Amino acid sequence: MCGIIAYAGKDNAVPYLVNGIRDLEYRGYDSAGCALDNGDQLVIRKDVGSVNSVIRKYGVEQLNAKRGVFHTRWATHGGISVQNAHPISDCSGDIAVVHNGIIENYDSIKESLNTHKFSTETDTEVIPHMVEEKMRLGKSFREAVKETALKLEGASSFVVLNRNEKDMIAVKKGSPLVIGLGENGTFISSDVQSLLRYTNKVVYLHDNDLVTFNDGGYTVENLVNPNLTHKVDTVDLDYHSAEKGKFEHYMIKEIYEQIDLVNSFLERDKKDIEYASSLIKKANRVYLVGSGTSYHASLYGAQLFRSLGIDALALQGQELKNYGRIIKDNDIFIIISQSGETSDVIANIDYMKDHKKIGIINVEGSYLSRSVDALIPLKAGVEKAVAATKTFTSTLVLLRLLAAYLSDDAEPIINDLKLLKLNIYNLTVPSVLEAIERVSDRLKDDKSIIYTGTEDGFILSLEGALKMKEVSYIHAEAFDSSSIKHGPIALIENGIDVIAVTTKNSKESLAYGLEEMKARGAHIIGISEENNPKLFDEFIKSVPAKSFEFYPLLMVLQMLAYRTAVKRGINPDKPRNLAKSVTVK
Ligand code: AGP
Repeated sequence: MCGIIAYAGKDNAVPYLVNGIRDLEYRGYDSAGCALDNGDQLVIRKDVGSVNSVIRKYGVEQLNAKRGVFHTRWATHGGISVQNAHPISDCSGDIAVVHNGIIENYDSIKESLNTHKFSTETDTEVIPHMVEEKMRLGKSFREAVKETALKLEGASSFVVLNRNEKDMIAVKKGSPLVIGLGENGTFISSDVQSLLRYTNKVVYLHDNDLVTFNDGGYTVENLVNPNLTHKVDTVDLDYHSAEKGKFEHYMIKEIYEQIDLVNSFLERDKKDIEYASSLIKKANRVYLVGSGTSYHASLYGAQLFRSLGIDALALQGQELKNYGRIIKDNDIFIIISQSGETSDVIANIDYMKDHKKIGIINVEGSYLSRSVDALIPLKAGVEKAVAATKTFTSTLVLLRLLAAYLSDDAEPIINDLKLLKLNIYNLTVPSVLEAIERVSDRLKDDKSIIYTGTEDGFILSLEGALKMKEVSYIHAEAFDSSSIKHGPIALIENGIDVIAVTTKNSKESLAYGLEEMKARGAHIIGISEENNPKLFDEFIKSVPAKSFEFYPLLMVLQMLAYRTAVKRGINPDKPRNLAKSVTVK
């Protein structure tokens, strides 16, 4: 969602801000803007549309600034318009604010500022006016920001630039913010990835931290708990590994990266998985919590654990409140999240507070990764395309390994992983790629696509359908094939495309549902190890992979969504309305 990059230091701020905001684009946004202090004046430039269009329209790269801030907005309060884009000013125009989150009590704050002239429809605008008001009443800039921050309810991280003050101030409340320590200056960003070109030394901020920074460095104070410490961390990520390289899009790069990731699972130290399994063994029920794709991973994990006789349940973050009275003392939580910043999970973390928590998370240093008792980092590298691909398959592999440690016999599973390494060549086999091309040619004109499977095949169908709708904007829906006859079969008409995700487990049971759909004119596209010419009108071969058969199947499903999107002229890396980390409720 919204992105923030700010810099104050001895160098010209503009290149840092321009590169930084470009590195944040992947998070998803609808408008962008910057505030630059060149010493003489505060220059604010903003517009709807892309970061590049703002940069080009205002010749931002030709400007010089001692300090400044760049922002990408994902609209929550107020439509997508130039006025509502950030930075947003006070009445005097001396203060510029960028903000990530939602100010839940902005209505009442706005009422209390009735002498101020508001010029946007945003909740954010109360921040500059409240700071201005408090300074009018004699407070120092810092005091004014501090009191303002304490007044805001909800997730509200922001940066304030006041052209009359030497310091810039950032406050973290809810939405992520991190300090980056550059050679000649200090960065503030909503995402470490925008810092990696310049530094891997960072300070992860706690909620209610207030950071004062200028060309001489920074200070941090926690407004609620003065005893909190702020250590400098080193981020173990290479900026260049997150570049597109020879690929046209990040999504395709990340789909192919899955092939090499298998090595990393084999080579990784499994102590974290072992420790997590020891916690699960002592627990009563296991709740696996995640959203979107991560919820699909939770479904997969819960099903796997149940097959071992473990009481396990998958939930979406927002569902936790319905379980408040059922959760028992000895229950344990597995939090699944690529970003580690998903607000639906964070907003309900209180339900997990007296329980052991395990995290399967990609972004180390993220809020959720710091909130768990045992972290199993995905180590899938930076995932820039909005649609999760390699982080999903990595999560399923780690869940599979966790299940192996739970059953006290990890060896056969590790051997299967070695086999997967030898066999994972789906997307390098010309006949498979040709089949994907043929099928995506057909799908690209569809209004609606049905995905179906049973057992684990149904969970993969859910994910296949989500990928398709996210990047191609085609309505895609997944049904368990045995449930089709209870209603969804009414959707089946002559020629409708049905993608049948066939796992070894589900081959037999899936066939019944498929026959019923075929009898009513469905065009069945089978993705499976073996063709079934009687049932499948088209077939995409998925290479067998024993316990890890989801791996090649998913690569085909992801690739199908990717190619369909590209053929429809959509940039799959930045689908409309979507964001990489969903940090607002
Ligand atoms: C996945 O393709 C989506 N972008 C989305 O469903 C995502 O999985 C969801 O928002 C949860 O994100 P998380 O894994 O970062 O918690």
